[in-house]
Amino acid sequence: MCGIFAYFGPKEKAADIVLKGLKKLEYRGYDSWGIAAKQKDGRIYIEKHVGKISEVISLEDSLTSPSHLAIGHSRWATHGGVTQFNAHPHADENNKVVIVHNGIFENYAELKQELIEDACLFSSETDSEVLAHLIAKNMDEGFEKAFQKAISRLKGRYAVLAICEDEDKLIAARRGSPLIIGQGEDTYFVASDVPAFLAYTKEVMYLDDEQMVVITKDGATFSSLESGKTIKKRLISIDWEVEEAEKGEYPHFMIKEIMEQKDTLSRTINTAEAKLNEIAKLISRSDRAYIIGCGTAGYVAHIGEYLFAEIANKEVIMRPASEFHLSARFLTEQSVVIAISQSGETADTLEALKLAMNAGAKIVSIVNVESSTMARISDKILPIKAGPEKAVASTKATTAQIAILTLLAHASANKLDEGRQLLIQTMGSINDMLNPRYEDHITSIAGNIMNVQDIMVIGRGISHPVAMEAAMKMKEVSYIHTEGFAGGELKHGPIALIEEGVPSVVIAPDDNFKNEILSNAMELKARGALIIGVSPENAEVFDYWIKTPSAKHANAITHIIPLQILAYKLAVLRQHNPDMPRNLAKSVTVK
Ligand code: M6R
Repeated sequence: MCGIFAYFGPKEKAADIVLKGLKKLEYRGYDSWGIAAKQKDGRIYIEKHVGKISEVISLEDSLTSPSHLAIGHSRWATHGGVTQFNAHPHADENNKVVIVHNGIFENYAELKQELIEDACLFSSETDSEVLAHLIAKNMDEGFEKAFQKAISRLKGRYAVLAICEDEDKLIAARRGSPLIIGQGEDTYFVASDVPAFLAYTKEVMYLDDEQMVVITKDGATFSSLESGKTIKKRLISIDWEVEEAEKGEYPHFMIKEIMEQKDTLSRTINTAEAKLNEIAKLISRSDRAYIIGCGTAGYVAHIGEYLFAEIANKEVIMRPASEFHLSARFLTEQSVVIAISQSGETADTLEALKLAMNAGAKIVSIVNVESSTMARISDKILPIKAGPEKAVASTKATTAQIAILTLLAHASANKLDEGRQLLIQTMGSINDMLNPRYEDHITSIAGNIMNVQDIMVIGRGISHPVAMEAAMKMKEVSYIHTEGFAGGELKHGPIALIEEGVPSVVIAPDDNFKNEILSNAMELKARGALIIGVSPENAEVFDYWIKTPSAKHANAITHIIPLQILAYKLAVLRQHNPDMPRNLAKSVTVK
């Protein structure tokens, strides 16, 4: 939710460095953007626009003198519409203090009222602007003190950056939204995510909640927001490659990441045995085990519930993280909560984990971003090692999460080797499946249904959450109304939506539910539906057939991949950018 980025260093093209970095963060929010650059003459130049940043090449010509310090923001609107005024950065009325903000200041309305009574002039409808005015009010005490005073009055979640005209300093603070400091030679970067500065440095320091950092030409000083005490930070080297965060020869990140699934599972398969067994033990000794996540990660959690039941005969209850409060009351110190998340920064999941921590339950997180807040607050982490996922629609992280849950469920049943063997075979079939002919076949099906109003997806057993995830993928990138149902639920209501020609995707792996789901397909066809079968074998009821590898307990993986491709093709044929669907953002750091 919103990308923020700053550069402080010897290079005198700070505005363009920030422009370049912001482009790498655009997946976090892309309805508007802006940059503030501190010029050699001390004045701060601000430029902001509605729309995507991608096409802008340089800002340097607009500056009156070179700049070595700049901050930038790409926005996902929360408070105030998508307008140039509401785009960040925001400044006080004299342009002396400039800030960017990711998150929500919950008490902004009362602060704004107070500031207006104090004769402050507001130029936006955002909650964020209050911070610039609050700092500006106390600047006679110095920038740092004024910043601390201002931040102490704010409630809510935030990551903020601030600069001012009078002092050559960059200040950043966080509570609940990510901020990472990249360190190069005499150079500092501050960003919501690593890809923004990956081209310059892989040496990072993490700003934790309730901390701030003051960066000057002499270095970075970290301190506690509450006590003001200085904090020492360790420099950590990260192992992401620049190319992994680039599109390369692909037209979109989404298709690149779908294709990367040929390789990503191999990294998951290598997860250390000792770690998996240790977590499996924790789960089997627990009095209650829950598995939670939001959106796609929630559907993965639901798939996990099936995997634990079917492979290990163990009940691990799935809950959407945003509704976990219902179950949190039953947690004890013997309970385990498994959190699924790509980013490790999803606010709803973090809130749920806070409840778990308060109850003393053990937290296991299955995350892609190992440096994320979720990973750092967990008792145990299982990193999925899928590499940077940039498309808003999750694909490779999804299958890597399912793969690790498959291993964990096997470890819980004391048959980890069997689990690894299964995934090795599955990798082979994914490699065979992901060829250009397969893609063309799915493109032609997408071409035939691209103008419909609605799509249904059904599955039974583990294919039920797979159906819901497939529907999520299609609706979020193609904007076609798509719903996923359990096959058995159709006749209890959803079948009323079926009329002549409604495409209905039927997920029919080679499992115990095959005959039943094919009967459901017949029921749909009898009412005029166009049946797209996703199955290892063709069936008479299918109008179109997408062949899938039979993968036993890994069927969820082999059956979601073709539907990720279908979603992608529908988006592209309907001329939507699948990497940046409307109204969405990659990492949802607000509740
Ligand atoms: O980073 P997380 O996995 O915690 O994100 C959770 C959801 O916001 C995410 O899966 C979302 O539903 C994606 N748009 C799905 O493609």
